[in-house]
Amino acid sequence: MARILIIYGSTDGHTARVAEKIGAHLRGLGHAVTLYQGDRIPSGTDINAFDAYIVGGSVHYGKFQSYVGAFIRTHLKALKSKPSAFFAVSGASSSGAQGRIEAETFSTPFLAQLNWAPARIEQIAGAFPFTRYAFWKRWMMQYIVRRAGGEAHARKDYAYTDWERVERFALEFAASIAR
Ligand SMILES: Cc1cc2nc3c(=O)[nH]c(=O)nc-3n(C[C@H](O)[C@H](O)[C@H](O)COP(=O)(O)O)c2cc1C
Repeated sequence: MARILIIYGSTDGHTARVAEKIGAHLRGLGHAVTLYQGDRIPSGTDINAFDAYIVGGSVHYGKFQSYVGAFIRTHLKALKSKPSAFFAVSGASSSGAQGRIEAETFSTPFLAQLNWAPARIEQIAGAFPFTRYAFWKRWMMQYIVRRAGGEAHARKDYAYTDWERVERFALEFAASIAR
């Protein structure tokens, strides 16, 4: 049994769901999982007290949440000294293997400038909850999604996440800790 810390960034809530799912799979394997949104880590949390780390964030205008970067920068030593992985949630990843390659153009420079090279980096397709966006955000996201060839009805929410992929990522991470 390992103590695993999951830290995630989420602007519209979907990456929170992905992180929770990863946590649930790890708990199902008997691990003790602690999960926080990166800007809501309780003060006094001893980051070094964990055996392994998973950090994730979502892409908005090509960038991850700045607090995710701040967490990585602050705790780089711990992340480098124990098993760790990164997952990136994006719209780009919803376009299959080619989309995941495109999504790497966000995560690769982000992690490189933080000088962090986790053993595992997973690209996960995100969601477009149009009904929950405010007017201008919805209008703009519809424009962007349609321009990329996607469907974008204002009264529909779209979720492209491959939950089996999320499960595989969690199980493979657990297996890498056990080795
Ligand atoms: C304002 C906005 C900008 C976005 N920009 C990008 C982008 O540059 N590239 C991309 O692949 N996906 C982009 N997305 C898609 C998000 O990554 C996707 O909606 C993801 O599920 C958001 O996760 P969250 O709900 O945890 O914030 C954008 C979404 C929004 C709402």
